[in-house]
Amino acid sequence: MYPALQQEIDTYRKRTPSSHEAHERAAKRVPLGVGSNYRFYPPHPIFVRDGQGGRIHDLDGNEYLDFNLCYGSLMAGHCHPAVMKAVEERLHLGTLFGMPHGLELELAEEICARFPVEMVRFTNSGGEATMYAIRVARGMTGREKIVKIEGCYHGGHDAVSVSVKAKLELAGDPENPTPVTASLGVLKGTTDQTLVAPFNNLDAMERLFARHQGQIAAVILEPIMMNVAFVMPDAGYLAGLREITSRHGALLIFDEIKTGGKLCWSGASEYFGVKPDMITLGKSIGGGFPLAAFGASREIMDGIVQQKIYHAGTYNTNPVVMAAGIATFRGVLTRDNYSHIDNLSRRMVSGYAGIIKRNGIVAYADGAGANGALMLYDKRVRNYRDWYHVDQDLWHHYWFAMVNRGVLPQPFGWDEQWTLSVAHTEADIERHLEVFDEIAPALAAAQRARIAVGAHSV
Ligand SMILES: Cc1ncc(COP(=O)(O)O)c(C=O)c1O
Repeated sequence: MYPALQQEIDTYRKRTPSSHEAHERAAKRVPLGVGSNYRFYPPHPIFVRDGQGGRIHDLDGNEYLDFNLCYGSLMAGHCHPAVMKAVEERLHLGTLFGMPHGLELELAEEICARFPVEMVRFTNSGGEATMYAIRVARGMTGREKIVKIEGCYHGGHDAVSVSVKAKLELAGDPENPTPVTASLGVLKGTTDQTLVAPFNNLDAMERLFARHQGQIAAVILEPIMMNVAFVMPDAGYLAGLREITSRHGALLIFDEIKTGGKLCWSGASEYFGVKPDMITLGKSIGGGFPLAAFGASREIMDGIVQQKIYHAGTYNTNPVVMAAGIATFRGVLTRDNYSHIDNLSRRMVSGYAGIIKRNGIVAYADGAGANGALMLYDKRVRNYRDWYHVDQDLWHHYWFAMVNRGVLPQPFGWDEQWTLSVAHTEADIERHLEVFDEIAPALAAAQRARIAVGAHSV
């Protein structure tokens, strides 16, 4: 660890003693002291006291401009008034019935009006949504194999816990990646059924389909890869996937858990002009509540209607969550708010680009809709293998330096990205950029020194 980075981490420790103490206690009872593996990072994660709009406070009372927003789940910002009102009203009418109540229809109508689907089922998490979407695809095609993209993340279930963050020494040929299970406990046989293709590579996809003729039920992918920071599809890539999957009788599933609510009014199919067979939605459609969904045409969802395909869950369509979802669609994911977000995004990306250039940092910034990221690479990242070679120390330097100055620029992790919320103002973006500008000379100097000694892979 180089001295400027060490100094930022020392400052972080000094600013967050209560988080340190809370984490020490939590780790005795809760593995890693956190509720989800991704939330842990050394020396200790920030423990949050409260959040409002675009800001949060930690246990020591430090305020942060929040661009993490629960890993992109809060384009609404914290405690959006329309969501809070709907939830508060609904709370007093009963919180859980395990019986239909009508709100699910209202929310399904909102989704079908925007996204290219005719029927929707709701789940409580994105992982559940992708799990059931895959089951439906397998059930309706009568095929067992699926293709996922190397580096895409679709939740914690076995079928997609393959080649998420595979070590390069296990990942094989970049043109024909070896499927690698992402966790102990994932059945070894999973890699027989989950095939892996590189992003932005139609030839590789063609080869997989040729090798497994008539056996592939679906291709599932994030239309913009947002579990390797921010990686756009090349022009024509999604259209190419559409053509290949149709030609082979396989379904195309856009996992829009990250893009769905945040890219634009109708998500990736509108943005890229490509219509998938199924979509999954989650994160920002819930306004801060645990809501996700999978949807498709009437024909595809007929497997559930005919009771040949099973989807169930005690907490599904919890009325409080449905109320939050409806309020989010009607009060947050509005055309006015998308243009506000687009303005903020343009300023954020161009602001980053200017600071990068002025300071001579080898990097670029990219973004679309509410999301974007600082990419510490010498050329545009097109797939998992390109992303893999980040200078992790330099990325840590960026993150801790921003956090120490009151800006949580994105979740911890160079695989994540910033999220903008409707609660953020232009002044908030300027503050974010001001802080990046302040730390940029030290970042540039550290990068130059690391390039000189070969520690930075440029
Ligand atoms: C693209 C994508 N799909 C699915 C998931 C899983 O969603 P959840 O964490 O709600 O299970 C995530 C979570 O980050 C995601 O980014």
